[in-house]
Amino acid sequence: MASPDLVSENIQKIAEIFPNCVTETAEGKAIDFDLLKQELNYSVVEGNKERYRLEWPGKREAIVTAHIPTTKTLRPVREDSVDFDNTENIYIEGDNLEVLKLLQESYLGKIKMIYIDPPYNTGNDFVYKDNFTIKNEEWKEISGDYNDYNQRLVVNPETAGRFHSDWLCMMFPRLKLARNLLKVDGVIFISIDDNEVHNLRKVCDEIFGEANYRGTIARSTGTRMGSGNREISSEIDYALIYAKSEKFQFSPLPMAPEDLKIYDKEDERGRYLTRSLRRTGGENRREDRPSMFYPIKAPDGTEVFPIAPEGWESRWVCGKETYNKLTKEGHIEWKKVIENNVATWKVYQKHYVGEAVKYASNNWNNVDGNKKATREVNELFDKMKYFDHPKPVFFIKKLLDISNLQKGDTILDFFSGSATTAHSVMKINAEDGCNCKFIMIQLPESTDTNSEAYKAGYKNICEIGKERIRRAAAKIKEELKVKNGKEGLFGSESSLSAKSEVDLGFRVFRLADSNMQDVYYKPQDYKQESLDLFADNVKADRTPDDLLAQVMLDWGLPLSLKIGQLTVLGKKVFKVAENSLYACFDKGIDEEFAKEIAKDKPLRIVFRDNSFKNDTAKTNVKQLLKQLSPETEMKVI
Ligand SMILES: C[S@@+](CC[C@H](N)C(=O)[O-])C[C@H]1O[C@@H](n2cnc3c(N)ncnc32)[C@H](O)[C@@H]1O
Repeated sequence: MASPDLVSENIQKIAEIFPNCVTETAEGKAIDFDLLKQELNYSVVEGNKERYRLEWPGKREAIVTAHIPTTKTLRPVREDSVDFDNTENIYIEGDNLEVLKLLQESYLGKIKMIYIDPPYNTGNDFVYKDNFTIKNEEWKEISGDYNDYNQRLVVNPETAGRFHSDWLCMMFPRLKLARNLLKVDGVIFISIDDNEVHNLRKVCDEIFGEANYRGTIARSTGTRMGSGNREISSEIDYALIYAKSEKFQFSPLPMAPEDLKIYDKEDERGRYLTRSLRRTGGENRREDRPSMFYPIKAPDGTEVFPIAPEGWESRWVCGKETYNKLTKEGHIEWKKVIENNVATWKVYQKHYVGEAVKYASNNWNNVDGNKKATREVNELFDKMKYFDHPKPVFFIKKLLDISNLQKGDTILDFFSGSATTAHSVMKINAEDGCNCKFIMIQLPESTDTNSEAYKAGYKNICEIGKERIRRAAAKIKEELKVKNGKEGLFGSESSLSAKSEVDLGFRVFRLADSNMQDVYYKPQDYKQESLDLFADNVKADRTPDDLLAQVMLDWGLPLSLKIGQLTVLGKKVFKVAENSLYACFDKGIDEEFAKEIAKDKPLRIVFRDNSFKNDTAKTNVKQLLKQLSPETEMKVI
C-alpha cells in the first residue's frame, strides 16, 4: 500500500530506450550515468566506477562510432538488379556500419527478423576496422573504392593484444544500430561458435536487454573442428536469439498427425483429451506443495481430495485460483466410477486441440550440416566452389519458420556472404506464399586472386552473392513451374519475375560518397575555380536514379517502394509508391509544370536546385503548389 515507486518506473523508461545503461550496484538496479552520458555525446566521455558489465578497451569509441552520422549515400545499380522497378527485395554493397546508419530513418522499427553470421573471430578471420575519426576529405578519396575495404579488413590473430576487443568494437555499433531497425515484435538470430559466444551473449544482454534473451540454438555442424587428439573437438554452432521486446512470440510448431490422434473426445467446442487433475507420475505428496492440496466439490456436492490409489495424500496440478478459473472456462470434467463396489468421483482437466502448443527446442542436431550448405552453393555454380563456409538453406528457413512472420514482413542480413538468407526467403515465399522481402548487406570484399571464384570472374563477394540470388531464383522458378503446371503461375512470362506472384527480383544499391558537392571549405579558402565547380551542387557523375535514392533515404521512405515513371510536359517524373513521392530532376521547371503536377496531388515532391527556369519560377512553383495542392511537401536538393 505505497505510492508508485517513481524511481523504478523512471529506470524502466530509460531501459526501454537505452537497455545498456541499466546496471547492477550493491543497492540493486541502477542507471549507469557514465554510459548514459556517453549515449548522449559525440566524443568520448571519461568516468570509471565499479559496476557489473562487460568492459573492453575501445568500448566508448564503439558507442561513439554508432552515433557519428554518415555523409555517404546509396547509388542504385540498375544493370546488376533483376526487375528493378517492381521488386521489393534489396541487395546493398558496402560496409554494413555505414549502410545500417543510412537505413535508420527508412527502416526504423520496420524489420521483423534479422539473421547475421558475422566473422566468428577464430584467429584466422578478417575483422573490419572502423575509424570514426576519419576526416571528410579522406572519405572523398576512399569512397566506393574496393581497395579501401580490403585495407580495413584486417586479420585478427589470437596473438594480437586486442583480439577480443577488436572484434567487440566491430560488433557493438552494428548490433546497436540493428536493434533500432527491429519491429517491436521483431527478433534477431546471431550465429556464433565457442570463440566469442560468451562475449556476444554479454554484449547482446547489454544492447537488447537481458530480459529479451530468448535462448541459444545449438546446431550440429557435422564437421569436427579442433585438434581431436588433445582437445575436445567442436561440432556445434550456436545461434543466440534476442527479441526487441516481450511482444515477440515464437511461432508454435504445427501439430503432427500422431499428436492429433490423442485428442480422442469431442464436444461442441471441438476435439479434446483429458488428463487427471491429481498430479500423477512419481510421488507428488501434499507436503511438497501444500497450496495444491485443497478440497473441491464434485457435481453431487461431496468434497473430493487428491488422494493416491495407495491412500497417501497427494496434490492437484494447480492451486485453488487456477482451479476456479478452469471450472469457469469449462475445462474441468467429472466422471463417476465404481471402484471396489464404491462409487467415486474422478476429476480431469480438458485440453482442446490448439490449446497445447509446442515450440521448437534449442537442440537442432537434425538440421543440415555445413557440408550440405557448401554443396547447395556449389550446385548452383556448376559444382565449382566459390564461397567458403555458407550456412545451410534449411537452417535459415527453420529460423524463419519460428520467427512468427506475417505476410509482407522484411528480413535483414547484414553479413550476407553468399546470400543464403536471400535464397531461404525466396524459398519460403515460393512454398508458403508469405510474400516476405529481404535486405542483404555485404562488403565488396575482394576474392583471392588465386581462388576459383576470382578466375571465374567473381572479383568480390558481392558478385558471388548477387549471382547466387539470380541462380537460386531461376531454380525456384523452374520448381514452381513444375509444381503449378506449364501454364500455371508464370504462363509464358519471359522476364524472371515481372508478373509472377513470387518476387524473385532484387534491387542493387552500392554505398558511395555523397551525391552533393563537398561544401566544407571556409569562405577564405574558396578560389574562383571552386566557385565554378559549385555552380551545380550535385556531382557531375550522379544520375536522376542516384538522386531519387538519396531523397527516399532522407525522407525515410523504404528503398523497396515501387518506382514508376511518367512524362509531364516533356519532363521525366519519378512516381514512388503511387503519389507518396514525385521527383523531377530535369531542367526548365516553371509555373505550367507546377499546375500540371498539382493535379495528381503528390504527398511529396522534389526538384534539383538548378532545375528551375529561374529564381522567380522557383518561388512561384512553391506558391502554386501550396495553393493547388496544400498537402504536398516540397523539397529542393
Ligand atoms: C561468415 S560470412 C556469412 C556467410 C553467410 N551466412 C552465407 O551463408 O553465405 C560473413 C560475411 O560477412 C562479410 N563482412 C565482414 N565484415 C563486413 C562488414 N563490415 N560489412 C559487410 N559485410 C561484412 C564478409 O565479407 C563475409 O562474407
